[in-house]
Amino acid sequence: MQSLSEYAEYSETSCINVMPTRLIPDMLDDVRESLLNRPRTLSPKYFYDERGSELFDQICSTPEYYPTRTENTLLSQYAVDIIKKTKPEQILELGSGYSVKTRRLFDACQHISHNCTYAPFDVCEEALVESAKKLSKEYQWLNLKPLLGDYNAGLGNLPVANGSHLYLFLGSTIGNFELHEANDFIEELYKVMRKGDNLLIGVDRVKESEVLHAAYNDAQGITAEFNLNVLRVLNRELNANFNIEEFSHSATFNTHKERIEMRLVSKSDQEVIINDLDRSIRFNQDEEILTEISQKYTYKGIEEMLSAANFSITEHFEDENAYFSLVLASK
Ligand code: SAH
Ligand code: AVI
Repeated sequence: MQSLSEYAEYSETSCINVMPTRLIPDMLDDVRESLLNRPRTLSPKYFYDERGSELFDQICSTPEYYPTRTENTLLSQYAVDIIKKTKPEQILELGSGYSVKTRRLFDACQHISHNCTYAPFDVCEEALVESAKKLSKEYQWLNLKPLLGDYNAGLGNLPVANGSHLYLFLGSTIGNFELHEANDFIEELYKVMRKGDNLLIGVDRVKESEVLHAAYNDAQGITAEFNLNVLRVLNRELNANFNIEEFSHSATFNTHKERIEMRLVSKSDQEVIINDLDRSIRFNQDEEILTEISQKYTYKGIEEMLSAANFSITEHFEDENAYFSLVLASK
């Protein structure tokens, strides 16, 4: 039998499944649609198996990937302010990953003796479980409620607690949506929020293309490895036979659309079999798969997106280079 303390740890570090509120295609149908047709694309959510989440975490520590450290500095500077203003009963984080920067908010809670629940929501179960284990030791007062699910499947089934909520969407993950999808997502989030709830969103800004290019083409090749890892995911999950060596990483800044576009490029004419689809795909040399967009926003663009969804902007923090925005908005 488990002791009560073991049970407490067990319950805090196992995930609650968040049921979809709308039908979304499973991986098989999704990949059939997006990879067999041209232009070939893959949803960025497939990056994040255990290895993908670890690789993303490593990207965050590269000298070139400025978003993480810039947002972390902004959070360190303003977290106490944010917690004092919002006094959340529950902090619910969309796409929480390993909740690394979120610790700045927990530190602030600790500083002003404010207790709350933390509900990290992610598609990657390994990242949720590992970080919940660590957080339960580091912040023993924190009530943990890890949520496993896909935010594309709707936000309507996210558990709400009594009292006010602080929703977090950090790391400029909003940039991984097309502009119209981002607007829809922010509107949907506004609808599930209650009056008095707050949103803290981190958004990457438009800047010199050299800085952006370097951030997605780090010298150690970790971003390349992260990008290529999605082929390993397809090999494992769909019984495919991608030869990883036969694809290369590409990330370029589209100045017109103000976004990074990340692709995998076939190095040769080749055929790949996807057994679970009962199909093979012929790739020509230099043929591309679009694996991620990372939209960059202007100060005005961020405010317009939030205002269009009816949010009231409480604070708009930015660093001295205006590389990154951290915006607190309320319903
Ligand atoms: N918020 C963290 C991690 C950002 S990486 C940070 O700022 O560093 C993006 C995170 O979103 C990953 O942890 C990934 O697993 C998660 N994610 C991607 N697509 C998702 C989806 N459709 N539903 C839920 N989580 C998703
Ligand atoms: C999670 N997301 C906001 C990251 C980004 O910058 O678009 C993912 C990433 N892709 C390559 N490097 C980092």
